Amino acid sequence: MTQYKLRSYQGITPKVGEKVYIDPSAVLVGDITIGDDASIWPLVAARGDVNKITIGARTNVQDGTVLHVTRKSEHYPDGFPLAIGEDVTIGHKCMLHGCTLGSRILVGMGAIIMDGAVVQDDVFIGAGTLVPPNKVLESGYLYVGNPMKKSRPLKESEINFLKQSAVNYLQLKDEYLADMAD
Ligand SMILES: CC(C)(COP(=O)(O)OP(=O)(O)OC[C@H]1O[C@@H](n2cnc3c(N)ncnc32)[C@H](O)[C@@H]1OP(=O)(O)O)[C@@H](O)C(=O)NCCC(=O)NCCS
Repeated sequence: MTQYKLRSYQGITPKVGEKVYIDPSAVLVGDITIGDDASIWPLVAARGDVNKITIGARTNVQDGTVLHVTRKSEHYPDGFPLAIGEDVTIGHKCMLHGCTLGSRILVGMGAIIMDGAVVQDDVFIGAGTLVPPNKVLESGYLYVGNPMKKSRPLKESEINFLKQSAVNYLQLKDEYLADMAD
């Protein structure tokens, strides 16, 4: 049974794929597209009002994370939408603003990623990292710090963990969905 509420803005309501878990305390407004099997955890605030947000299949957005975008302007005709790929783990209390993330990424707890930043596939971002505007984070690396620094290449075990983390959350959200159906 669906217990969450989606809010429309200027006639646009979030579109949600199959078997998605959305915690009832999450706030999702406007132009948001969520892929199949994704999960949105308690107190996430996602506002697709002045631009759009896309969240890929099997991606998890953990507790207290804020997702927002920047409007179109003379200088930035497309503004800064927020695009998140597939099998991405976004840890607790992150701030993702107008940036583009590929797939199989882990965004550590409390990280901030700003407008125009691009995170390529298979990247690990340490807890508390600040990614300044328009930076490009290269596939296969760990980034940490405020402002971020490219720390080192990922170990094979860490590259495997990027995918495993998404699988762990896939299982967890299925348990939550089963609980809600009871
Ligand atoms: C960065 C991280 C992956 C550890 O990487 P690591 O290479 O194994 O780092 P180590 O623990 O060996 O520490 C190496 C150095 O980095 C520092 N460090 C560790 N994590 C850091 C972080 N997030 N930001 C800045 N510095 C960090 C350590 O203090 C240490 O510094 P020192 O050499 O001056 O003592 C880990 O600390 C991290 O941030 N994981 C994210 C976990 C998370 O948020 N998961 C999502 C929740 S589900």
